Amino acid sequence: MLERAAALLPACALTPTMSLTSALVVREGRGSRITDMSGNEYIDYLLGSGPMLLGHAHPAVVAAVNGQVGHGTSFLLPNEPSILLAEEIVRAVPCAERVAFCSTGSDSVFFALRLARAHRRCSKVLKFEGAYHGQSDAMSMSNQWTRDPAPYPSPVPNSEGIPESVRDDVLVAPFNDLEATAKIVERHAPTLAAVIVEPLQRTIPPAPGFLEGLRDVTAQHGIPLVFDEVVTGFRLAYGGAQAYYGVVPDLCALGKSVSGGHPIGIVCGSGELMRHAEGIRRLTGGYVAMTGTFSGNPVSCAVGLAVLEQLRAPGVYEELFSRGNRLMTALQSACDDAGVPARVTGEPPAFEVWFTDRDIVDFRSSQHADPATHMRFSEELLDRGVLKAHEKFFVSTAHTDSDVELTIEAMRGAVSRCGSRSGT
Ligand SMILES: Cc1ncc(COP(=O)(O)O)c(C=O)c1O
Repeated sequence: MLERAAALLPACALTPTMSLTSALVVREGRGSRITDMSGNEYIDYLLGSGPMLLGHAHPAVVAAVNGQVGHGTSFLLPNEPSILLAEEIVRAVPCAERVAFCSTGSDSVFFALRLARAHRRCSKVLKFEGAYHGQSDAMSMSNQWTRDPAPYPSPVPNSEGIPESVRDDVLVAPFNDLEATAKIVERHAPTLAAVIVEPLQRTIPPAPGFLEGLRDVTAQHGIPLVFDEVVTGFRLAYGGAQAYYGVVPDLCALGKSVSGGHPIGIVCGSGELMRHAEGIRRLTGGYVAMTGTFSGNPVSCAVGLAVLEQLRAPGVYEELFSRGNRLMTALQSACDDAGVPARVTGEPPAFEVWFTDRDIVDFRSSQHADPATHMRFSEELLDRGVLKAHEKFFVSTAHTDSDVELTIEAMRGAVSRCGSRSGT
């Protein structure tokens, strides 16, 4: 199967970031485990890059799919699951007064920025260096794969094929540096349509006061603040990072963490901004087109409802955090005990190890970490039956205490093999 994949799929994987470490073809996933075509089982911390927050083939998700699939799978019309899911999003997410559906996280970011641009009647957006917001042209700038960062606020494209002109509309600031960010915002305020941030940038937590400061400076200038909660939504807390960190944006992009593994994107936010998508605005002005064939897909929305119901059960987040915490603490201790310089960062449901002795506060500090040691660590883990994502561990509600024990053992073994080669 790998040979057949190599003949047809350009990176021999569905995403290039996974092709480096894990040449495996998946046969199935159940709970916290995936099994490859050769029958090898792995404890899965990739979780499909995050959507499988409940683990694979969760019975409630399977039942939701089966419950909807025989009643029609795509309508381009309002349907009960999409309306019920919109209502639950409004109940749960602090900034959500109105909701719109699309198909992916990239879509939801793209539409959130389009709403902000229409509202402000200008086109520049400010993003943070090292943040990933999906694959739209504007957001494929200065993300976590940036090789040669430019002086702030200039963006660096992360792909060929992006029109030159797109650069003119993107400003880049250092995450966790409020002073530098505020200066850029103030200088460009008249033409700045939005500031977009991952509240937990990849696995770098916001410094105390950073999100609050962003909220203040954007509010002062009437610039919409967009939280990209495609990863953090319903993962850090039931209301997402905005509930967890206590800072409420104007718009929020949601996606995979609500999805139970089914394609969905959700834009939500203030009624004032969201109303640009109402058809009447075609006549009154400021209309934002936000449609897609699969928007409000009833299977994805039925699954979303089932996922949220599971997450509302008492104790779910406590257990998720407790297991994640144990893994984070054990990984840091394993590195410390082995004399391997390392920093474990993030929040318990999504964290990472960086092989460096410097604190990680933004993209540039993360660049001091040693990629070769990281690659070795990931490969050693894989050899011990533990699969992590390229840039983080995602923990699911399906990971058990016994998974955690086995993982800690594997982490210790993997770290001990990294000792001799780690750099700073
Ligand atoms: C923070 C963030 N935003 C947006 C996206 C894009 O989502 P999708 O891959 O569903 O388009 C991702 C995907 O990893 C993400 O991590």
